[in-house]
Amino acid sequence: MITTDQTVRTFLEFFRDRGHELTPSSSLIPPPGDPVLFTTSGMHPLTPYLMGTPHPLGSRLTGLQRCLRTTDLDEIGDDTHLTVFEMLGSWSLGDYDGPRSLRWGYELLRDGFSIRPDRMHVTVFGGDHEVDPDHRSWETWSDLGVPIEPTTHDNWWSNGPIGLCGPDSEIFVWTGPESPHGTPTTDDRWVEVWNHVMLTYLRHEDGTLQPLPRPSIDTGLGLERLVRILQSQPSVHNIDILHPWRTLLPQTWGPLDEPSLRLLTDHLRSTIVILSDGITPSPTGRGYVLRRLIRRTLTTLWHTNPTHTLTDLPFELFEHTLDRFRQPSDPTDIRTLLFDEERKFTQLLDRGRKVLSQNRFNGPLTPEQYRYLHDTHGLPSDLIGYLRVENNTDTGESSSQPNLR
Ligand code: SER
Repeated sequence: MITTDQTVRTFLEFFRDRGHELTPSSSLIPPPGDPVLFTTSGMHPLTPYLMGTPHPLGSRLTGLQRCLRTTDLDEIGDDTHLTVFEMLGSWSLGDYDGPRSLRWGYELLRDGFSIRPDRMHVTVFGGDHEVDPDHRSWETWSDLGVPIEPTTHDNWWSNGPIGLCGPDSEIFVWTGPESPHGTPTTDDRWVEVWNHVMLTYLRHEDGTLQPLPRPSIDTGLGLERLVRILQSQPSVHNIDILHPWRTLLPQTWGPLDEPSLRLLTDHLRSTIVILSDGITPSPTGRGYVLRRLIRRTLTTLWHTNPTHTLTDLPFELFEHTLDRFRQPSDPTDIRTLLFDEERKFTQLLDRGRKVLSQNRFNGPLTPEQYRYLHDTHGLPSDLIGYLRVENNTDTGESSSQPNLR
């Protein structure tokens, strides 16, 4: 069975053999001026170079980048999404074109990773009122004999509302037990593994599209998703690098149902990586995303048993995660930051329980009461809902699990 590390090596060596230099991976904090809160794709650290600045390593690059996506939070716990994940990438900074990139992508999946061609499907940009259909990608895939589905929105990639963008072509691999059928938009057993973006335009504030004088290619392959397929596993949660979590969490906290085990694994792993990139919990911005991840972890954990605590989280899971993401932080420091946040949240909930036990908070709450509880006691509405469910005073207006979005 091919391991995650072997998968990374195979990818990087394939591109190095084709003249690509290895770019070092960066933190989850994108470079200044980038419109996104977190690095959501391998290309973020390269934005200035994709815009035209010459890269010191040349015009062909490859690398492995940790990414964080909060847009997928509702899907956490399914078979394909993780909040923090790794993306393998290849880039042509004005060097070769889209068809070259697609042909290499196909070759690597078929010959390097032994994925059968009849288990592949691709999508291409079908055109819209601004940009013509991506004929060149269409011709390339037709020539290679891979089935194609055209789409519009799903095959347009942009780095936020303004900035670099262009048509893309996505490669899907069939994950069902029977013979492949349907198309990527009609059957979700077609799992997207690799996106090839033709970065051809710059979107301005006023919405206009400016063709780039030097178009580039940006590809991103979801490492855990590919490994799930290569290791014939039912979900990304079952691949080799997540084994320590699947083994040690139930050993620590007793049997956990599958959704809780997946959520705890995903959020705790993400929390360790975010803390190690120097972000601390706070009421706004990146720190707030982190705070909500930790709070959701805790409410899920306490749902299984209210006496459980993160202080019991095995030290080796901190070490394993920092090692996986090549982060130099001291695991003891990360552990301390996590415990501090647990303590603060416990204190906030204790205060909230006292306040909400007053008779005037029985029954449905008015908007003024919500405002008062938020402004005076620091209780956001989702936490009020959580405490009221716990207290049996909930009237159905809020959810029992604080929602992260
Ligand atoms: N930027 C593209 C994506 O995130 C390819 O890496 O899908």
